[in-house]
Amino acid sequence: MKSDPKFITLEGVDGAGKSTCIKFIKKYLADKNLNYLFTREPGGTALGEKLREILLHDDMNPETETLLMFSARNEHVYQIIKPNLKDGINVISDRFTDATYAYQSGGKNVPMEKITTLKNLVHKDLKPDLTLLFDLPTDVSLSRLKSDGNLDKFEKEAADFHNRIRESYLDLAKKEPKRFQIINSNQNINIIEKEIYFVLDKLFL
Ligand code: TMP
Repeated sequence: MKSDPKFITLEGVDGAGKSTCIKFIKKYLADKNLNYLFTREPGGTALGEKLREILLHDDMNPETETLLMFSARNEHVYQIIKPNLKDGINVISDRFTDATYAYQSGGKNVPMEKITTLKNLVHKDLKPDLTLLFDLPTDVSLSRLKSDGNLDKFEKEAADFHNRIRESYLDLAKKEPKRFQIINSNQNINIIEKEIYFVLDKLFL
């Protein structure tokens, strides 16, 4: 019997190498003949992608930013995530609500309770089955970002901001050790690939 479709989220500081890991995850799912949809936040819908442009480039009050993240997320949940899961398709989202806790609360001091209120409003009944947290020291992630000329407003922030985000993610992972799987992104790419396959095997077998 086929297992229920899974909702997987990918998280981590900017520069943690998510894009390379997404290739491994796609290969794993294709090799196992699993139906899947890759999507991202902010974004994933036509409106969400318009909001992404604003969110990644315009300065705004952190609470406005939080509300816009959840506006994009509301569309994403109702148009894309829930309907696909209902159709038996595994959904993998490049970032989800943990990013709002890490960036807007950890990074920009929006109270966690406000984020929890919005989370309950938008997706009280939806939680990732697995969250892969790509982790690496801030000096390494920042040096990776520096080699990329095209930075968005989050990537341009100072080291202290990126440090707080890293710590927030690690705190979230401590609170839910079953859902979070931390992948050390500061190691050989072949080892990272093996670790990802190991974690996915545990979820899908
Ligand atoms: P990325 O697609 O390169 O991960 O860029 C998305 C950026 O948006 C990244 O810097 C994290 C940020 N972000 C937030 O600040 N809050 C959120 O809730 C989400 C989903 C992303």
